[in-house]
Amino acid sequence: MAFATDPGLAGWFPRAAEPQPPPGTGFAAEYRQVGDPGSRLSIEVEVRGEHAPDLPSALPAIVDRVGIDTEPLDLSDPAVRAWLAACIPQEITAVTRFARAAEMAMSHPARTVRGDACDVLPGIVGGCDPGALVCVVDSYVSVFFSPDTLGRFRALVDAAGAERDLVWISVDPLVPMGKDATHSVLGLPAPPALLRRNRRDGVFGVVGRLTYRRGRREGELLALAHPGATWLEPMPAQHV
Ligand SMILES: C[S@@+](CC[C@H](N)C(=O)[O-])C[C@H]1O[C@@H](n2cnc3c(N)ncnc32)[C@H](O)[C@@H]1O
Repeated sequence: MAFATDPGLAGWFPRAAEPQPPPGTGFAAEYRQVGDPGSRLSIEVEVRGEHAPDLPSALPAIVDRVGIDTEPLDLSDPAVRAWLAACIPQEITAVTRFARAAEMAMSHPARTVRGDACDVLPGIVGGCDPGALVCVVDSYVSVFFSPDTLGRFRALVDAAGAERDLVWISVDPLVPMGKDATHSVLGLPAPPALLRRNRRDGVFGVVGRLTYRRGRREGELLALAHPGATWLEPMPAQHV
């Protein structure tokens, strides 16, 4: 389940990441690919830093997708598509990627729910297949919640995670946003080195995961990330 998905694009895995460099480009760097090599959509991510990403050999099977947004956008409306396309950097790879992502989302539309995540999340999680692992994906959304709303959202996820297995993955700046940040949106304390980095480099996305398995809750900060996935910097394993 992706909440605040814009037009439903956040509920999709790109079918390939870090594709092979085109022949003859002379790249010496190591390229690794995940997902369907035949996919028309790929997202290239530069991996930075000293730690290799923990990439799966195959992507998980997704049985359902639900997008939640207070203002969901309808990709099948040409005016909405044109407006979104105008927001994309006018550079050929970005324009092509958006066009292919829109094609993919339109040919397999996900269910979209209009509403505030705090109001609709419990009902949607409650209606999910009991045998499936619910994955709440949040990219640059909960960071904008007020402290009260963020606290309420965390409590709702905790309550849902006490009832069934669930994962909340977020890609959001630390909160409160800016130099006084102390925590991930997941409520995990950021280690001192990360806080120093946040004050020095300015705001960046932090990829974090809260996992609820058989009622046991575990949190992990996994990586730093560009908000548009241009780069990813895996962090050393740390459970909080
Ligand atoms: C900064 S955009 C992020 C969009 C996308 N996830 C991304 O990473 O590019 C924030 C999105 O959150 C939605 N939003 C804001 N508050 C929300 C709330 N309380 N519940 C659900 N969606 C919300 C907005 O409508 C908007 O689509």
